[in-house]
Amino acid sequence: MQDITTDFLVIGSGVAGLRAAIELAGKGNVLVVTKDIPTESSTEYAQGGVAVALSDEDEVGIHFEDTIRAGDGLCREDAVKVLVEEGPERIRELIEWGAEFDREGTKLAFTLEAAHSRRRVLHANGDSTGKELERSLLSKVISINTISRLPFSIAADLLVKDGRCYGAYILKDAKMCRVFARATVLATGGAGQAFSRTTNPAVATGDGMAIAYRAGAVLEDMEFVQFHPTALYAPSAPQFLLTEAMRGEGAVLKNIANKPFMSCYHQQAELAPRDVVSRAIISEMVSTKSNNVYLDLTHKDSGFIKHRFPRIYSTCLRYDVDITRDMIPVSPAAHYIMGGVKTDLDGATNIKGLYAAGEVACTGVHGANRLASNSLLEGLVYGFRAGRSAASETGRELPDGRYFGKGAIFENGKDDVANIEEVRTFVRRIMWDRVGIIRCGVSLSEAWDKFSEIKPLLDSTFMTRRGLELRNMLTVSLLITKAALNRKGSIGGHYRSDFTDRGSEWHRRITLSNQDGL
Ligand code: FAD
Ligand code: SIN
Repeated sequence: MQDITTDFLVIGSGVAGLRAAIELAGKGNVLVVTKDIPTESSTEYAQGGVAVALSDEDEVGIHFEDTIRAGDGLCREDAVKVLVEEGPERIRELIEWGAEFDREGTKLAFTLEAAHSRRRVLHANGDSTGKELERSLLSKVISINTISRLPFSIAADLLVKDGRCYGAYILKDAKMCRVFARATVLATGGAGQAFSRTTNPAVATGDGMAIAYRAGAVLEDMEFVQFHPTALYAPSAPQFLLTEAMRGEGAVLKNIANKPFMSCYHQQAELAPRDVVSRAIISEMVSTKSNNVYLDLTHKDSGFIKHRFPRIYSTCLRYDVDITRDMIPVSPAAHYIMGGVKTDLDGATNIKGLYAAGEVACTGVHGANRLASNSLLEGLVYGFRAGRSAASETGRELPDGRYFGKGAIFENGKDDVANIEEVRTFVRRIMWDRVGIIRCGVSLSEAWDKFSEIKPLLDSTFMTRRGLELRNMLTVSLLITKAALNRKGSIGGHYRSDFTDRGSEWHRRITLSNQDGL
């Protein structure tokens, strides 16, 4: 088995991982390991924008209040304070590094999204904000000679000895190797691929959460999954996101009878919180016996639409939907997980030497429901903080590699499980059907029982990306289901039809670790 030694290991090259790497670079050598090409990440596909209190009409305190309100009582207030107060500095710095946001004249342009009381969402190239963040961060990273990158390399497990993390097992060129590091930052993003309908890219299989769980990390808030109301629903089309900013700019939701319906469900209509809009869509789909509703922007000027949403316009056109003339068929899809690896405000987990930032982490900043466009900001603010605190491990001694005996298990070179694709589909369907937008005790117990039947595969050996991902998807699916069963109440993104109230213990947070088992 090949061994690599570095000062700092960053796993993931989305907004959080890249920002952490930049902060670490002054303190030693940094290796950024990433599963696919460096840009492949949720960050790259982020559309609506990045929320930040920088406009003349806005204040940090108002951004704080909107975030707390969206989180439905479960945000950690100190984490939100850090996010909104440090956000402007992180954005200014990014602009200095070359990020170009859209402007009206010389001033930054801000759009509106659901549950924001101000226009505070910065965007780039209309609807390609994430791509611009990824581009500018990656070019900064490339310019720093203490940062190296290892694409197409998959973190399989962490190297942990006596409660301290010293790096990770990495599958590279079909061989397992060990990367030893003084500190490790997990920035592997979300887990949307655990659901059969998702806006997330293929890399979002919950790897970081599962890897950390196996190593003994504490996970929190795993029941809180955010479903985006509007993903494209067209034959043989991907579940492409139709940004909430379209509703912010006036797009209307209509059922298949061409009837607008959102004002019957919430006073903020199209701009109600995402969970409310997603459930309203499901309700309309059920009452009209259809698989979708429509998003209608056709009353807006076609020039405006093409200029403001160029990527959405051209993508939909590829699937025969001209958004300047046609209503767009949409239905909800799994989009974001509020829960993850529990960290403090500096990204530290309960395992020494292991830090986490971005969607894989749970700082409590989003509570039970994330305010739109707060996650790119979270990646910048908490990526920076995780990098800064991981940098304090400079000079820590590394133990002798012989102590990490698990390598032998990895050497046989193939997956133990033959029908990986079938099992992946099985898991994703169960998650969508039974652990989705509307859950109940019966559906969750059925999901739990079905997952329990295949649980033995968690002990199999995997040596391919698809196999490793399957193990992680099953682990994360079990964790989400377990947390959702435990929370007997409805709050934020977690809705149970058998407990529609918040429940008396709503303020209790659900934490899970491998000491309790699955
Ligand atoms: P990611 O950007 O997902 O990066 C994760 C990285 O980890 C990737 O490089 C991946 O390849 C790598 N990785 C994963 N597993 C492994 C492994 N085992 N080994 C090695 N590498 C691994 N948020 C907003 O704030 N505003 C928006 O407008 C917005 N729009 C969105 C639109 C879409 C379509 C989607 C999917 C999400 C959107 N979000 C938005 C959410 C936001 O994009 C993500 O929450 C955020 O980008 C996550 O950043 P991250 O760095 O934590 O993870
Ligand atoms: C969107 O553009 O609708 C997604 C924004 C987000 O997920 O924060």
